[in-house]
Amino acid sequence: MSLANGRPYLAIPGPSVVPDRVLAAMHRPSPNIYEGPLHDLTARIAADLKALAGTTAHVAIYIVNGHGAWEAANANLFSRGDRALVLATGRFGVGWAESARRMGVAVEVLDFGRSSPLDLGRVETALRADAGRRIKAVLATHVDTASSVKNDIAGLRAVLDATGHPALLAVDAVASLGCDEMRMDAWGVDLLVAASQKGLMTPPGLGFLWFSDKAKARCQGGDLCTPYWDWAPRAAPQEFWQYFCGTAPTQHLYGVAESLTMLLHEEGLEAAWARHAVLARSVWAAFDAWGAGNPAIALNVADPAFRGHSVTAARLGAPHATALRRWTEHQAGVTLGIGLGMAEPADPAYHGFLRVAHMGHVNAHMTLGALSVMEAGMLALDIPHGAGALAAAARVVAGR
Ligand SMILES: Cc1ncc(COP(=O)(O)O)c(C=O)c1O
Repeated sequence: MSLANGRPYLAIPGPSVVPDRVLAAMHRPSPNIYEGPLHDLTARIAADLKALAGTTAHVAIYIVNGHGAWEAANANLFSRGDRALVLATGRFGVGWAESARRMGVAVEVLDFGRSSPLDLGRVETALRADAGRRIKAVLATHVDTASSVKNDIAGLRAVLDATGHPALLAVDAVASLGCDEMRMDAWGVDLLVAASQKGLMTPPGLGFLWFSDKAKARCQGGDLCTPYWDWAPRAAPQEFWQYFCGTAPTQHLYGVAESLTMLLHEEGLEAAWARHAVLARSVWAAFDAWGAGNPAIALNVADPAFRGHSVTAARLGAPHATALRRWTEHQAGVTLGIGLGMAEPADPAYHGFLRVAHMGHVNAHMTLGALSVMEAGMLALDIPHGAGALAAAARVVAGR
């Protein structure tokens, strides 16, 4: 007998839950791509995307996933042999470095481990050591979905300014945009990367690059910039097809237009940030209570100031995390995220990590429901845990 029948809840850090009205907006015949409403809609989407990122500069839309958006960023930022300083605080920081390296960029990685934020002092030392100012860009992850580490992007800009280093600041916000506070212009970010399947509540398939005037001026004529990746015509098209370097992703545009309306024009971006902050804290409160009764259960990131608000990585001790994930999915209809980059799949320790997502179209009912199901699973599987976790989470939601 299973209690999973009913509306399933995908509590994984992307693809996130797609609202019914976004699916409905996409469920339509393909429109005329040569003229008409799609052209106005796309211009409106571009304007909303700038508001979402907190910039008045430039935005380019690609038909890609996040890995594709990394390549689009690399292709516009660098020429072969250019130097990049990559700050890794999880699997995705390492992934962006690998993507750039395989495109011929000379990559230096500062690795801060799998459960700590980047250390601004070490970044400062690395920038000061680059006497020839050869580092063209610093690549950082705002929230690394694998570790749920959130980095201080404004602090990073301050270090760049304090050292007088001219490197561009490029930030991966794939996991955080629409969930965690992001102020691209105010924080001095030159390039921002995101994708549609997380905080933007739209199926995977669209990637976005926002770039500053400084980045635009510094990144012209690079030898990696092939026609499809070139951000310039996409950001300032003379003809509609140039937005996408070919046929527009029609149904996805209707979907993302709907999600932007929900996020920016109905709920409001700052309200969405506040909602994610409360839901994240409620998850943390539950794990702290569970951990009080079993030291093997703990949040991956010790300091709340450096935890993302869209996903929570945690350990339960092997093999409990995998057993619990299987139980919640098959017995209760809630799918939790695998542990990513914390241990190799062949390593038994791999089965000690999981992630709980709370990103995009998610409310208190869904989050408290997921936590309740996790507690039920711990009981069913005899996983030792502390008491009072659900009450602690409810108190956070109640603002108590
Ligand atoms: C922070 C971050 N960057 C990049 C990616 C890669 O995106 P995709 O899986 O869509 O290729 C992800 C995916 O989870 C991510 O979380």
